[in-house]
Amino acid sequence: MNKVVLVTGANSGIGLALCERLLQDTEGLQLCLACRNMQRAQAARSALLTSHPTANVALLQMDTSSISSVLTAAQEVKLRYNRLDCLYLNAGIMPNPQFDVNAFFKGLFSSRIVTMFATGEGILTQKDCVTPDGLQEIFMTNLFGHFLLLSKATYNRSKQS
Ligand SMILES: NC(=O)c1ccc[n+]([C@@H]2O[C@H](COP(=O)([O-])OP(=O)(O)OC[C@H]3O[C@@H](n4cnc5c(N)ncnc54)[C@H](OP(=O)(O)O)[C@@H]3O)[C@@H](O)[C@H]2O)c1
Repeated sequence: MNKVVLVTGANSGIGLALCERLLQDTEGLQLCLACRNMQRAQAARSALLTSHPTANVALLQMDTSSISSVLTAAQEVKLRYNRLDCLYLNAGIMPNPQFDVNAFFKGLFSSRIVTMFATGEGILTQKDCVTPDGLQEIFMTNLFGHFLLLSKATYNRSKQS
């Protein structure tokens, strides 16, 4: 039976490179690209099919920062596939740290000045926001969304097979 592999954040970067490698190395793979933006997902699928014309590549809409999107996607995975061999939990965001002018001037006249210049501590801050579900976006996108997917898409699967 063909292996089923799902990759989140598969439309670019490491995720897309991983998909390319998986298709190259595994015969008869059923690959599922789980992405939040279907246009970008379709473009990635087309690129993969250009180098692997006979590959079995499916798309799944999933925004890991949204609880309802992940639950819907997990349900869809259970309906579509009677096995799931591997999940690559790759989707993620890493906002660039921003320079905080106020913190810089505060640090300038404090005992933390040496540490501040040596490490950037206190003056470089990473912007994070709260999702409509009330969770920090980075936590939800990179971690909790994947935890939900893993637990919901695989729950009871071992009992079924
Ligand atoms: N590259 C590095 O040096 C490095 C270092 C440490 C950790 N990482 C981690 O490794 C993973 C891949 O890195 P990368 O460099 O390939 O990053 P990337 O090029 O920015 O790709 C990230 C992928 O995740 C997707 N994504 C982001 N938020 C999402 C969401 N809410 N729902 C679904 N998909 C979402 C993006 O989709 P869109 O195209 O729609 O944005 C994109 O496909 C990330 O988790 C990153 O944090 C990377």
